[in-house]
Amino acid sequence: PRPLRSLLEGMMSSSRLGHRLRKVVQNYQALNKYGVPLPSRGVGDGSRRSGAELLCQLKGKVDVTTLTPDLRPFSGLSWAPLLPPRPLTSDLGPFRSCAVVSSAGSLKHSGLGKEIDSHDAVLRFNAAPTAGYEKDVGMKTTVRLINSQVMASDDHRFLSSSLYSAGVLVAWDPAPYSSDLSEWYNRTDYPIFLQYQKYRRLHPQQPFYILHPRVEWQLWDTIQANMAEAIQRNPPSSGLLGTVLMMSVCEVVHVYEFLPSRRKTELCHYYQRFYDAACTLGAYHPLLYEKNLVKRMNRGPDRDIFNHGRVTLPGLHSFNC
Ligand code: C5P
Repeated sequence: PRPLRSLLEGMMSSSRLGHRLRKVVQNYQALNKYGVPLPSRGVGDGSRRSGAELLCQLKGKVDVTTLTPDLRPFSGLSWAPLLPPRPLTSDLGPFRSCAVVSSAGSLKHSGLGKEIDSHDAVLRFNAAPTAGYEKDVGMKTTVRLINSQVMASDDHRFLSSSLYSAGVLVAWDPAPYSSDLSEWYNRTDYPIFLQYQKYRRLHPQQPFYILHPRVEWQLWDTIQANMAEAIQRNPPSSGLLGTVLMMSVCEVVHVYEFLPSRRKTELCHYYQRFYDAACTLGAYHPLLYEKNLVKRMNRGPDRDIFNHGRVTLPGLHSFNC
């Protein structure tokens, strides 16, 4: 049907961004906060790669790994024993089916809760609640991926709120593109390590990992290599990070309302009365390009996206290249 095609295809072109969002994107490009090298040539080389080719590239390039106490500079710090001894992917799963629940406003009135909970594992993001929204987003939380901004902000009461007490926590913070861990340690965007130590001491029983910051840039390189234009030189959104995290530990991953359904709305989150198209289209994050990539890797029918906001992706260990 026509509305379906225009929804999916129209979303993918940055020329569709409004004037305001285009300006914001240009400003981020000029700032280049993380020192991402300018694309020499090759932008666009992979813009025609098939879904199968993209999946193989993702599998070969991105290694979802987390900080362990043996890594420098952490090995020399007194709090290193707070870090889990093994990386996340050694401890989590493997699972057969997994759900990734974006926090998009279009989840509201979706009635997807039961379907989401029927998966073996469910990943949620940042401050996204289940209480009061079970009908639309379910109640199971196996993993919660949180950014350092949420960990540090007073509004979210990260250290004390029960919102964060279910499942395994995974935190991330953007590092400079080419930095080693020591350089990042001294210039994180937000005080991720301070908050991590405090949380671990208050909740010592809850598994809590920190994503290795090179994962973000491995993923960024993969997005850029497959787009015909220069993308924002900022890390990908939590949405894509969480999707690839689950593809590393699951056989099949369903992602909900990352590619918006017919319920597409400017409502930013299903749990907040705040409207901004940038939440769905991206400004800081190269979100439109992330969605383009996911659309091309999707193995499910387009009508699943239109009706349910559902994308089907294979686990990275479930296919050969
Ligand atoms: O806003 P927040 O980062 O907590 O949302 C989690 C993820 O869900 C985002 O990183 C983004 O990938 C996705 N999202 C979206 N559209 C929205 C809101 C969130 O695609 N309107």
